[in-house]
Amino acid sequence: MCGIVGYTGPRQACGVLLGGLTRLEYRGYDSAGVAVVSDGEMALVRRVGKLENLKAAVAGDPVVGTAGIGHTRWATHGAPTEDNAHPHRDCSGRLAIVHNGIIENFAELRTELAAAGHAIRSETDTEVVAHLIEALYEGDLVAAVQKATARLHGSYAIAAVHLDHPDLLVAARKDSPLIIGLGDGENIVASDIPAVLEHTRRVAVLHDGQVAVVTPERVTVHDASGAEVEPEVMVVEWDLDAAEKGGYEDFMLKEIFEQPKALRETLRGRVGEDGRIQMSELQMSDEELAAIERVFIVACGTSYHAGLVAKLLIEQWARVPVEVDVSSEFRYRDPIVDRNTLVVAITQSGETADTLAGVREARERGARVFAVTNVVGSRVTREADGVIYTHAGPEIGVAATKTFTAQIAALSVLALRLAQARATLEPEQVASLWAELATVPDVVEAILADAQDIEACAREYTQAVSSLFLGRGMGVPVAMEGALKLKEISYIHAEAYPAGEMKHGPIALITPDVPVVVVATQGHTYEKVVSNIQEVRARGARVIAVATYGDEAIRSYAEHVLWIPQVSEALSAIPAAVPLQLLAYHIAKLRGCNVDQPRNLAKSVTVE
Ligand code: AGP
Repeated sequence: MCGIVGYTGPRQACGVLLGGLTRLEYRGYDSAGVAVVSDGEMALVRRVGKLENLKAAVAGDPVVGTAGIGHTRWATHGAPTEDNAHPHRDCSGRLAIVHNGIIENFAELRTELAAAGHAIRSETDTEVVAHLIEALYEGDLVAAVQKATARLHGSYAIAAVHLDHPDLLVAARKDSPLIIGLGDGENIVASDIPAVLEHTRRVAVLHDGQVAVVTPERVTVHDASGAEVEPEVMVVEWDLDAAEKGGYEDFMLKEIFEQPKALRETLRGRVGEDGRIQMSELQMSDEELAAIERVFIVACGTSYHAGLVAKLLIEQWARVPVEVDVSSEFRYRDPIVDRNTLVVAITQSGETADTLAGVREARERGARVFAVTNVVGSRVTREADGVIYTHAGPEIGVAATKTFTAQIAALSVLALRLAQARATLEPEQVASLWAELATVPDVVEAILADAQDIEACAREYTQAVSSLFLGRGMGVPVAMEGALKLKEISYIHAEAYPAGEMKHGPIALITPDVPVVVVATQGHTYEKVVSNIQEVRARGARVIAVATYGDEAIRSYAEHVLWIPQVSEALSAIPAAVPLQLLAYHIAKLRGCNVDQPRNLAKSVTVE
């Protein structure tokens, strides 16, 4: 969950490296560092904490050179100290590397290298890689990196520089993302696309087991056997602004307001002239889709909540049983999955270790596995049988927002496709559901245009210590997501419950100091939800209700009402989630929290 970057070209490398690290800081911010090669010297500067500390250091003492590597860290092995910060060097100080991932066999390598006389200075797993390359180096850096990576177990994206090869970068990857920005007389390797967008739109994706040899003029890629292979190059649509805040105070707020566009992009091209739902990625005929006996959804965090929404839609529309599991449980619980099971792995980053393991588990049991992801070229796109992309653009804020609603949109299309193939809905029903789904981006636009009262509501709850989120039916996953958003960015304890469950325990928590957020949008259990509101109010709770415009009655049951336009119950999850994203955002901002980089969290969890 670190960010790595490397540059070689005619320009001063340090500026380019710091620019790239700025766009990768969402991946980890425990320490940062650069190593730059020039005139036989290796300049190494590392600082603990946020990138601004490193920027201050090099501002005071500029680093000269046109090739180098940089790193922003999310600590896994060794505390956030300067010694543990990357880049790490070998004993000679002539080689430096940066790394994202975890070297699982680092301890045995460390013992072997120390016994061979290598002086290992840090507690990290990464440093052993520098010494291993050193041990295998006989003048050919590429060969040394190839031999060294062949001995590594675990996940890695590595970039290396060496004084013997002043303008050469060698990069390698396995189970951690690595791309190469292809420039004109310069090239940049990085963990993620935003780091190179300022310089180029042409991006090559490095695949697992591949090694890239990068000079200012040329990029060659070698597979695990050492053979040269043609890199997969794509042109990235995203513009730099997409990676920048676009004028919003935080990436999270920008991404909340990007939802209408993200939804439109995700729904684009999903229905043909003939009214048939398009999901060619499935590469399954109607007969094959009709033969599916069960759907299994595997995901973590917010993606898991999108999976719970999908369960309700797929069961209701396609009448096939759906199980939803958190990936870290699915992968170890011997799930009943076979060749008649359709497994859907939902992961915005495409790199979540537990979900990737769930995908492998399901495939080993013969299931067809489809990934719903937001990142082109991410690991899950190579592990699954097919990929359904959400087109939400880069999501920088650690708290998922636009990717959540985009996931629900993509999964709604999947549910309609299944229903169409299984003939569990009449064509007119599919057409009208699609027609309403296609209006959801406008509905969200209307909610965002009328969101000014949410901040005022938030102001009253900044001192809360604990809160409860309630809902019924489609309101349950929405309540769970609302609670997760509040928890992860404001650090207020928040728990979600099916409203009918209150009487069986949680109601004991109710006091006037515990705000209760209730998803009370129009639906077949609305009356039941209102009685649950009465129950908590009877114990002195202050209620914030998400409700449907025109529902005047709700005003007398809640201190605050967050309004959404009328939508059918089945399609209410996306609109109802948006006010809860904003509520959490404003409460966290008013508490002075860093909403884009909440404590203890990282954007993609690539370790178990
Ligand atoms: C959500 O705001 C969090 N960032 C986290 O729960 C996230 O949803 C989870 O780690 C899953 O990530 P993924 O979708 O990239 O797999």
